[in-house]
Amino acid sequence: MGTRYIPATGPNLGPVKVVRNLRQLKRSVYLDANATTALLPEVYDVMVPYLLGECGNASSSHRHGRQARAALENARQQVAYLLNANDSEIVFTSGGTEADNLAILGAQTEPGAHIITSSIEHHAGLHAVEKLERKGCEATYLPVGANGQVNPVDVFSALRPSTRLISIMLANNETGVLQPAEEIGRIAREHGVLFHTDAVQAAGKVPIDVERIGCDLLSISGHKMHGPQGTGALFVRRGVKLDPMFLGGMQELGRRAGTENIAGIVGFGEAAVLARNGLKDGSLKKLAKLRDALENSVLLEVEDAGVNGSRNERVPNTTNIWFGGIDGPALLAMLDRMGVSVSGGSACNSGACEPSHVLIAMGLTPGRAIRSVRFSLSKQTTAEDVDFAIWQVTEAVGKLREKEATSRATRNGQRHPKACTGPERA
Ligand SMILES: Cc1ncc(COP(=O)(O)O)c(C=O)c1O
Repeated sequence: MGTRYIPATGPNLGPVKVVRNLRQLKRSVYLDANATTALLPEVYDVMVPYLLGECGNASSSHRHGRQARAALENARQQVAYLLNANDSEIVFTSGGTEADNLAILGAQTEPGAHIITSSIEHHAGLHAVEKLERKGCEATYLPVGANGQVNPVDVFSALRPSTRLISIMLANNETGVLQPAEEIGRIAREHGVLFHTDAVQAAGKVPIDVERIGCDLLSISGHKMHGPQGTGALFVRRGVKLDPMFLGGMQELGRRAGTENIAGIVGFGEAAVLARNGLKDGSLKKLAKLRDALENSVLLEVEDAGVNGSRNERVPNTTNIWFGGIDGPALLAMLDRMGVSVSGGSACNSGACEPSHVLIAMGLTPGRAIRSVRFSLSKQTTAEDVDFAIWQVTEAVGKLREKEATSRATRNGQRHPKACTGPERA
């Protein structure tokens, strides 16, 4: 077998082995949109002038500065419109991580204050809450059901007189499962508690209305919605006091010091416009259809597999599937070699695998969590991509199960020391 470069729709990722089956002769398929998405050409186009020619610091009072300021404020309007917020309630950040940090660390929680969060938050939220705990705050990490959702009753029961902040995400990054944000918002309002929600994985995938949700703080990220990496925003409801994390100039009304990334923010604004248009043009229905086709076909073709979390209450682009009897990281590596980029239910360093805290919180055993794969599609995913992925996943799981059966037979039941396998059930 020789090697050949397969023309790809995305960047050519290198030599791919020529295989006999023509269906495998496709290319590489990117199904990891929850990690990042590609910049849309329209977004790139609006950024170029600010990268190449239009130099100006939005804090300068001369013509160039005023032009940069106008571009900045236009993008602020575009982002505000996506969230049904006021322009002055949008603080631009370097991404979702900074927005989560600013919301949680900036919420003026004194030592002794109580915070309610969930056990399935992104580490950008969880680690910020842990930092507050080290500073003398107390935190409740709410459980989730097997469906991956927080129960609003648990939020209510966790309230204390000292509760200052509730931080619960809108959509989970691993399962795509949506949280009952409006009910949580109502509880927060009734009890005078600040409510932050991490909407990084929801923006552009479901409508977001800060009034309906009733949140005080809401985080989004540009690169999860076809905008540039290194851009994001925090919605801060008018009247909510926030301690800035960065000290310096008075940018962003004193809430985030530092010269603004004008080109990035302009691109983020355009991505927000496109995301808003996408909520109405039928593209999300198409996305859900493709995701469902992938999920249903994989479940049909592969025995001993199932979906993690709710299949109803979730964003339209994500499915998280467990596969019995395989080594999870080996499956990801094989899919990578076969041209399918996805991510798994564990973080592996030096051969040791930590199962996903999200899947563990949903009651999966470490073994099953490690054998889980997240498929996340984008608006650029095609039916052909999905067909290719179904084919390759079916092949890869089959091969790994065969290999596992053979080596089990020869090893006389001895477990391979490096295999990331674990008990199927607790
Ligand atoms: C739910 C969630 N919150 C926050 C982040 C962090 O966003 P960023 O990569 O923009 O820092 C991510 C990124 O994966 C995420 O999925």
